Amino acid sequence: MSMLTVQDLQKSFGKFEAVKGVSFTVEKGESFGLLGPNGAGKSTMINMITGLYPPTSGEIHMKDIDVIKSPKQAQKWIGVVPQEIALYQSMSARENLRFWGRMYDLSGNSLEKSIDQVLEIIGLTERAKDKVETFSGGMKRRVNIGAAILHKPELLIMDEPTVGIDPQSRNHILETVKRLNSEGMTIIYTSHYMEEVEYLCERIGIVDYGQLIASGTLRELRESIGDHSRIFLTIEKDHLSEEKLTKSLLGFFPEKNFELQDHQVMVFHKEPQLILSDFIQLVTQTGTKITSVNIVEPNLESVFLHLTGRKLRD
Ligand SMILES: Nc1ncnc2c1ncn2[C@@H]1O[C@H](COP(=O)(O)OP(=O)(O)OP(=O)(O)O)[C@@H](O)[C@H]1O
Ligand SMILES: [Mg+2]
Repeated sequence: MSMLTVQDLQKSFGKFEAVKGVSFTVEKGESFGLLGPNGAGKSTMINMITGLYPPTSGEIHMKDIDVIKSPKQAQKWIGVVPQEIALYQSMSARENLRFWGRMYDLSGNSLEKSIDQVLEIIGLTERAKDKVETFSGGMKRRVNIGAAILHKPELLIMDEPTVGIDPQSRNHILETVKRLNSEGMTIIYTSHYMEEVEYLCERIGIVDYGQLIASGTLRELRESIGDHSRIFLTIEKDHLSEEKLTKSLLGFFPEKNFELQDHQVMVFHKEPQLILSDFIQLVTQTGTKITSVNIVEPNLESVFLHLTGRKLRD
């Protein structure tokens, strides 16, 4: 059963089209990642899905609820961790959670019980009484996540929850998301960190300039670009005769699946281990001194590079 269906979603701000007709489906229990660089349109998509603002056109259904027509009804089942932290600094963690719980119509004993559970999950039971202003950025993010899961949503939507926080909190957040998902919560996770999306998400949508330019499992995405690894060879510049090296490389790689830039050779290859020693020998024979060799398996960065010609993070 699908948890969320988005069809031809489009959003313009004045003449600027921030989201250009995006469609995707998230199944119940799945963890779906939206990966894209700054300004790609991730938050704009999320804000429409959570009913924060209406799309210019398109449709959003959460289970059988029309989110555009009945955002309040959908919000009962959705937990949102917005990109901007929304907390009262002079209130304690518990007071903040209480505030958010009431927004979701929780009260009394069941609210306090829920807060206790959430504090456990986000690992802040010991700090529950402390004012949020004394918290690190990562701890504040964790309170934000806590606020989003108090009402036990079926769908948790997180917009770049690990930006600008310490590694310890980052790990804690990733583990929490993984656990919530394994316990059955459906997750939509946006990020421009490919490692996080690779780690957390079963299926991934790659977003660029307001469009979903590819989607699938990590394996499918890797296969879509021919599953090529990259070999990086760093060479000493003083020893480099570019002309000579290019000529040898062209002899070895007639398909021109290499790039020579500055003091680095990058080769795209399906099975780098098969050619590595011959390749190194060839470069050495031209009198070029190699300072390092690095093989990078196909990952989301290479998929993005392949599809757009740009790096995910510049
Ligand atoms: N309220 C708004 N008014 C005008 N333009 C907007 C508004 N909100 C977003 N945009 C523009 O829409 C585009 C997409 O922005 P959005 O915040 O959705 O990107 P993002 O993928 O979430 O980026 P980031 O990784 O930086 O959070 C950007 O060019 C942004 O300037
Ligand atoms: Mg954003």
